[in-house]
Amino acid sequence: MLDTRISRRAMLMGAGAAAAWLASPARALLQAVGKVQVPAFVDPLISRMTLEEKAGQLSLMASAWGGGAALSLNPPGNGSDFEQQVKEAREGLLTGVFNGNGARMARMLQSAAVNQSRMKIPLIFAADIIHGHRTIFPVPLAEVASFEPDLARRTAEAAAFEASGAGIDWTFSPMVDVARDQRWGRGVEGGGEDVLMGRLFAAARVHGFQGTDLGSTEHMLACIKHFAAYGAAESGLDYNVVDISERRLREVYLQPYKAGFDAGALSAMASFNEINGVPSTGNHWLQTDLLRGEWGFQGFVVSDYTGDEEMITAGYAKDGRDAAKLAFLAGVDMSMQSGLYRQHLPDLVRSGEVPQALVDTSVRRVLALKAMLGLFDDPFRRIDEKRETARSLLPKTRALAREAGRKAIVLLKNDGDLLPLPRSGKKLALIGPFAEGAHDLVGPWVVYGDDAKAVDLATGIRAALASPKSLVVAQGSGVEQPLSGGIAKAVAAAKQADVVLLAIGESANMSGEAQSRTEIVIPASQQKLAEAVAATGKPVVVILKHGRAFALEGAVANAPAILATWFLGTETGNAIADVLFGAYSPSGRLPASFPRRSGQEPYYYAHKPTGRPNPPGELQPYKAHFRGIPNSALYPFGHGLTYGKIDYSSLALGAPSMPMNGSLQVAATITNRGTRAAEEVVQLYIHDRVASITQPVRELKAFRKIALAPGQSQVVRFTVTAADLAFYGLADKPVVEPGTFDLWVAPSAEAEGLHGSFELVA
Ligand code: NOJ
Repeated sequence: MLDTRISRRAMLMGAGAAAAWLASPARALLQAVGKVQVPAFVDPLISRMTLEEKAGQLSLMASAWGGGAALSLNPPGNGSDFEQQVKEAREGLLTGVFNGNGARMARMLQSAAVNQSRMKIPLIFAADIIHGHRTIFPVPLAEVASFEPDLARRTAEAAAFEASGAGIDWTFSPMVDVARDQRWGRGVEGGGEDVLMGRLFAAARVHGFQGTDLGSTEHMLACIKHFAAYGAAESGLDYNVVDISERRLREVYLQPYKAGFDAGALSAMASFNEINGVPSTGNHWLQTDLLRGEWGFQGFVVSDYTGDEEMITAGYAKDGRDAAKLAFLAGVDMSMQSGLYRQHLPDLVRSGEVPQALVDTSVRRVLALKAMLGLFDDPFRRIDEKRETARSLLPKTRALAREAGRKAIVLLKNDGDLLPLPRSGKKLALIGPFAEGAHDLVGPWVVYGDDAKAVDLATGIRAALASPKSLVVAQGSGVEQPLSGGIAKAVAAAKQADVVLLAIGESANMSGEAQSRTEIVIPASQQKLAEAVAATGKPVVVILKHGRAFALEGAVANAPAILATWFLGTETGNAIADVLFGAYSPSGRLPASFPRRSGQEPYYYAHKPTGRPNPPGELQPYKAHFRGIPNSALYPFGHGLTYGKIDYSSLALGAPSMPMNGSLQVAATITNRGTRAAEEVVQLYIHDRVASITQPVRELKAFRKIALAPGQSQVVRFTVTAADLAFYGLADKPVVEPGTFDLWVAPSAEAEGLHGSFELVA
């Protein structure tokens, strides 16, 4: 094996240099977290490259194979045909392709690059591996509901295992944009509304994708996207502008990106949006001063899909040449899909508008990463048709998908302990457009997953029932259109049943990119179905399918039991059945608040109090609320029930005050008073009462997920330090000010839980 690798490398740069490289101590150093080591062969290689070849190394295109899966998830691009793409690889005009079609395609392109191009530089293969490759895990937002970052690390690792087996070196993931407006469709790809969760899940996913050795054939390069503040789009309209204070940017939106880079991610994707008038793709402050200067990022930055070119329509660049120049000089090393770099960079260097040294620096970054991925050792190391099949949809990966699925489910409501249901003795009617069929299971942002390989709800439920015959299924309605005769059949099915399971919500293409919604409600035809079914008087368990938080209304909000089940992927039906029938006590907690009405958006729990907060209870005149409703969530961030009855008691603070350089011990007793084993996510929130910058009503500072047997109590302890009390002050730098702080140990962001306070003394 080693011999082959040496001989392939030798082909690229001479046997002596290759052997030296493999033995070099620098090679081991490559794996230091977040550090890029440039192997000695890179600069000599760059010195032999033409400007066109350099621009080629900075140009990434969607795979053109068979029409290209990439293009179905993006607007039609400057797609060439595959033959043309092979020719570009041969001519050194391409650094790699993305969203391609497996090992066979990759082998053809890679052969052209390393056997037939002048510089023989290997291509890099990228893809949107967002929540799985062939085995699809819950959408990233759903996974956050587990409050278990290590679960996300494990699913990212499993996704990397499958995808790297199929020739993919680089994933455009994790997406870590904080999303506080549920109208925006892309919240489904990220970490939800909270900063701490955003940070923890960003880091966990990077660790999972990259592992400790980028050269491993089971891992891949992660890409932190979309840099930056894409989730702060005005009115939740995708691609819209962001106008934001530097303080808000730093204390909220930038945090998860920073956590991802600190975890070692070595690529970043520029976002489509502008920030305060300057598109991110052309933003030197963002892509260079902050990212490289302040944060010390050493990897490379890729534009989003035609993001450079879009600066023309945004009114920032006058033409393609200008766009290429602005993006490149801002610090975007690589252009995705527009082709503008390879079209214009050589001439921009020749005319002196772009310094050659800057181009060399970007090429050096790209080549160094290709080396870290092991591509100079063996350009075909991840390309293996047999391994592609052998790693696909393995039982252990599906088992992980089922575990992640059930941990992502949030029990919003369970009046009268309607759930869990018995496995026998009750007739069930499963009603709704998501009841059965190979659709809407894997969810949005899936390039290679297949609904046909996933378990639908009806199948999962039948497998759990003692007698599959006790289940009847009726579609009732289309997703956004009524179904002729559908409601009548559904009502008839409900009437014969003891319990109705109502599977309603959004289809996969209603969230994700470009899927902003003005009303985040159950579509009208399904709401009508819900009203008709509820009118039968049968108890209804609502099973929501969704990529965002909803504003629930009418019969849906009033149903005795509601489960938030998102898009759970390959094991959808089994995971939901595990929770429905009590094989697993639900443990998920909301990663995004469910508002009372769409018009409250952007609604997030960590909002400021304002000078006129409406006290809990009655709506008071001239206090902050919308007409007719309190300005609180129907189901806030952190909310989620389980089948146990969980009790919070005995809050104990180590002292009434804490010094700046000290810490405060916080303890609370959590008891399971129910009759089933359960898990509880115990959350610590803090509020700074008076500060030189007003502070949110609460912020999550820590949490613990604990398992409790029936009757069991556990003392949960937290340690608060000054770092937990810091905020961005007037100079946009972290400060800590003495004063009184409230704290809560609580089961959600808006539950009273246990409340205490302490003084921070200077
Ligand atoms: C556009 C999306 O914004 C980005 O997230 C994705 O990685 C690229 N398309 C490539 O598919």
